[in-house]
Amino acid sequence: MSTRNFYIKTYGCQMNERDSEAVSCLLAEHGYNSVDREENADIIILNTCSVRETAENKARGKAGILSRLKKQRPELILIIIGCMAQNLGERLFKEIPHLDGVVGTDRLEQLPKMIAEAAGGRRRQTELETAGEINTALSGHQSDISSPTAFVSVMRGCNQHCSYCIVPRVRGPEKSRSPEDVINEVRAVARLDSCREVFLLGQNITAYGLAEARRRGENTIEISPIAELLEAIAEIPGIDRIRFTSPHPRHMNDRFIDTVTRLDKVCESFHIPLQSGSDRILKAMKRGYSVEDYRRVIKQLKSGMPNATFSTDVIVGFPGETEDDFKATRELMEETGFDMAYIFKYSPRAHTRAAEMKDDVPREVKEERNQILLKDLQSRAGERNQLYLGAELEVLLEGPSKRNPRRWSGRSRENKVCLVEASDNPRTGQIVQVLIENVTESSLFGRIV
Ligand code: 5AD
Ligand code: SF4
Repeated sequence: MSTRNFYIKTYGCQMNERDSEAVSCLLAEHGYNSVDREENADIIILNTCSVRETAENKARGKAGILSRLKKQRPELILIIIGCMAQNLGERLFKEIPHLDGVVGTDRLEQLPKMIAEAAGGRRRQTELETAGEINTALSGHQSDISSPTAFVSVMRGCNQHCSYCIVPRVRGPEKSRSPEDVINEVRAVARLDSCREVFLLGQNITAYGLAEARRRGENTIEISPIAELLEAIAEIPGIDRIRFTSPHPRHMNDRFIDTVTRLDKVCESFHIPLQSGSDRILKAMKRGYSVEDYRRVIKQLKSGMPNATFSTDVIVGFPGETEDDFKATRELMEETGFDMAYIFKYSPRAHTRAAEMKDDVPREVKEERNQILLKDLQSRAGERNQLYLGAELEVLLEGPSKRNPRRWSGRSRENKVCLVEASDNPRTGQIVQVLIENVTESSLFGRIV
């Protein structure tokens, strides 16, 4: 029987989503057929995350269930790719006995070959080497996507070595694509009918090109290769909006801030991981900036872009985090006025520096701090959205709202979900001006003007 239909389930961050899309395109080029239900697949690929223990456990659970399914359907091919594959490697074969293959983050282009060999009966294959060079094989995009946003990965890996973080282990050192390579990919997605927005991705995106510049002997304090890349992308016709994630406050120098606040196409919404509002904890996390540095970045962005909205990542319960440290985080969050934040309870990851520290904040205290921050955010969300009542926002339409198909869902430049009374013939990728007439904590409602 031919083994042709594949299904990819993705865990983790946008980088993983993007990798899955690129893998889908690669497999399609090799004659495989993407299906949207795992029951219809002969090849199931789990693209996994390792950032927290819970992320790995989710994929483990799923792989366990699929592995049992394989008893009934021995021809099913089950492959684990991505961060957990890189992190645990061959150990996964012990945990998941019916697993056929494990592919690390730098070897995804090997999947067509691995699948072909697995179909021929070869068992327990691994592809785990990490590359010093950026992998340029994965630049395909689906042309039938329903979203007007194309994700483009510009760099991979991270050299930051924050003490809690497994990313440098699972994604390796920073490797940036050449500007020409990125620009060619953006030009290609700009030709897709519905695509109006590019979302540039990198684990540490403001470090884009810095390792390479350092290797050339350049002084990297005042330069910003990512700013140069944004300028070049802003010139590409067909792309109206540019977003990126995640920047690191440490590299957000004047050159960078001047550029993002000056370029019209860069959207007024920034995700800037804070992690903690206490200098003592930031130091223990090895974040490389102080609370004051973070404040300066936000202040500069706000002054150059008065409409800018901010979101962030925060970890509660890092080793040694006291009530006072937590209070400092809470206050800084309040002062910054985040529209959205991902709050994580600290979870020790093997082979990181923080894993050698005592995980001394009790689970209940982590949970309590998590709840407090979530509540703060929620109580501010409604209030913040009130500010948009009566405003006219530029909205990029994504598609009919799932709850009420008479409405269309889209996003404003500030990254607010807007539900819009449908015009005559709304299209995915259409940019409209919307008068906001109603707001809730999570969305804005309005009509096209
Ligand atoms: N424990 C909890 N949260 C973590 N993050 C990264 N590592 C850990 C960890 N060991 C969070 C950080 C990061 C986000 C992607 O995940 O906030 O920005
Ligand atoms: Fe998870 Fe980090 Fe890998 Fe993304 S890069 S999938 S967040 S471990």
